[in-house]
Amino acid sequence: MKIGIIGASGYTGSELLRLLTLHPKVEVVAASSRRFEGKKIWEVHRFLKGFYDLEFCKPEDSKFSECDLVFTAVPHGEAMNYVPKLLDLGIKVVDLSADYRLPKEIYEKVYGKKHLHYVEAVFGIPELHREEIRRAKLVANPGCYSTVSILALAPLAKLELIENAVLDCKSGITGAGESPSDFTHYPNLHESIVVYKVTDHRHYYEILQELRRLQEDIRVHFTPQVFPGSRGILANAHVFLRGELKREELRKIYEDFYKDCYFIRLQDEVKLIQVRGSNFCDIAIFKGESRVVVVAAIDNMVKGASGQAIQNMNLMLGFDETLGLRVPPMFP
Ligand SMILES: NC(=O)c1ccc[n+]([C@@H]2O[C@H](COP(=O)([O-])OP(=O)(O)OC[C@H]3O[C@@H](n4cnc5c(N)ncnc54)[C@H](OP(=O)(O)O)[C@@H]3O)[C@@H](O)[C@H]2O)c1
Repeated sequence: MKIGIIGASGYTGSELLRLLTLHPKVEVVAASSRRFEGKKIWEVHRFLKGFYDLEFCKPEDSKFSECDLVFTAVPHGEAMNYVPKLLDLGIKVVDLSADYRLPKEIYEKVYGKKHLHYVEAVFGIPELHREEIRRAKLVANPGCYSTVSILALAPLAKLELIENAVLDCKSGITGAGESPSDFTHYPNLHESIVVYKVTDHRHYYEILQELRRLQEDIRVHFTPQVFPGSRGILANAHVFLRGELKREELRKIYEDFYKDCYFIRLQDEVKLIQVRGSNFCDIAIFKGESRVVVVAAIDNMVKGASGQAIQNMNLMLGFDETLGLRVPPMFP
């Protein structure tokens, strides 16, 4: 099948290009970059030399209209200018931006801008919405923090066991995209951990939306941080439960919830390095005196973005969900 990527010069775009080289049933026929239009993909993404002969084109190029599915890997507020046009042409879309993750009114409030081209989408976590994704024309791929946080808490929320949960999350700096800024500047981050948007990060609304679908009265609190590494998100979810449960009982709840989910691995311990470069989400559960700690890790560029987008693509195009994604993590 023919695939297009709008925003192929950015981080998630180049990660889509990297991962799709491993997919046996699709071919990338259109990849956009306004800055690098006319250049070969490998001239910009040197690490992909030998894999693509394709040139970057404009996002408006007619090659996109020949695609079966297009990924929009552009900033929020920009995807909405492309997605409805693609849908009108009968092309399926996986949008990696935030433009279709929230209801219109909430999006406008949280992102502080008018949504000019709103359409309903399915929230793209296959472990929660597999059947709806199979039927979807538009999938809103979740944020990276949202993915790991929702996966960490969903099994407990489904049983309405959570009184309160505190999500303490640490991300590598690729989560901020490829444009340099003060925030990503090496001396500002090196040998440091930076806490930011302490109580009002935008992903909070996605986390709440999805967890409330499982447990209406859930209370969650989320604080993001960045560490001086390129990839990965580690979430420590401190959970204050309703009632008492033994560690084995907790583990059984997770085993049952994720029994058909290849990309969720229950571990006794979790390290970011165990998931690097892969679409896995590793989860470990610990029982303290007054709280349960669920530790979860993903690669923000893979399960937190492009890998999950391909997982969604597989479902939408009728392939096995794991096709092209059964890649072991890079270790060390
Ligand atoms: N990085 C992550 O870990 C991550 C995780 C989950 C979700 N996301 C989301 O995924 C999207 C892409 O993120 P990223 O990290 O890949 O960003 P990025 O590295 O900044 O890349 C953005 C891409 O979008 C293109 N672009 C920018 N404005 C455009 C426009 N108006 N029309 C067409 N193309 C445009 C840029 O290419 P040209 O300027 O060359 O055209 C570039 O290729 C964002 O919405 C982000 O929030 C990112």
